[in-house]
Amino acid sequence: MAQLIGGLASSHIPAIGGAIHKGLQADPYWAPFFAGYPPVQKWLAEHKPDVMVIFYNDHGLNFFLDKMPTFAVGAAARYDNADEGWGIPTLPSFQGEVDLSWQIINHLVAKDFDIVTCQEMLVDHACTLPLKLFWPDHEVAPVQIVPININTVQFPLPTAKRVYKLGKAVGEAIASWNSDKKVAVMASGGLSHQLDGERAGFINKAFDLQFLASMESNPEWVTQFSDLELVEKAGTQGVELLMWLAMRAALTSAGAGVRKVHSNYHIPISNTATGLLALETV
Ligand code: DHB
Ligand code: FE
Repeated sequence: MAQLIGGLASSHIPAIGGAIHKGLQADPYWAPFFAGYPPVQKWLAEHKPDVMVIFYNDHGLNFFLDKMPTFAVGAAARYDNADEGWGIPTLPSFQGEVDLSWQIINHLVAKDFDIVTCQEMLVDHACTLPLKLFWPDHEVAPVQIVPININTVQFPLPTAKRVYKLGKAVGEAIASWNSDKKVAVMASGGLSHQLDGERAGFINKAFDLQFLASMESNPEWVTQFSDLELVEKAGTQGVELLMWLAMRAALTSAGAGVRKVHSNYHIPISNTATGLLALETV
């Protein structure tokens, strides 16, 4: 059976792509952000997952407001990136893991999740930037991917409770996959941020730190909140923390428990509180 070796989570602010492109990693504004990543890069170099299952939210590249699935799972052999208008370089294509995609899709449908299956799917900055941060020396991350899109862009959003169940079911699908590959799960988004409206620039450090702590020892903590409560606490785009919840829920299906490899929290990049987390299964 496949091995679920751990979970990673990272913010995905488009300006990161610009900073990498311009080589600004040591710039005083950027240094505390980029300094978080080497321990995670080292863990990945040591543990070498074959496949990364990526919980992320598309921001209008593949799905626009006219058609917005709550949950969509990629089932493509190749995923292309494209220009989203942020002025950052378009990254090369990623290789899919089609067999695992269908393993996950079949399991989710059997568990009553009504998902959209995507045999063609463009992946946006939320998919590409964390992979670039995790493998900075590779043109393309040396993993196959299975992207899973969770709508946090247009209401109504799935509840945290529902996202937790989705993540758990994805973890079950990985754990029962008949393969000798090593799989890691990854979340892209958050932490607290609000890009527009009266509260633009809103950041809630106390909430973020409590959420980060819950990821280790009490993963269901955030499921007590409704989506509107999450918007109030974390900002309109801070609801991207639902990706972290799905990633963490997937790990609960892997067996015993998790051990923290590394975390980082830095305020702000752009309008966003940045978070980074790496957990390994034990
Ligand atoms: C920013 C953050 C995001 O999550 C995003 O998708 C786009 C922009 C920002 O902080 O600039
Ligand atoms: Fe975002």
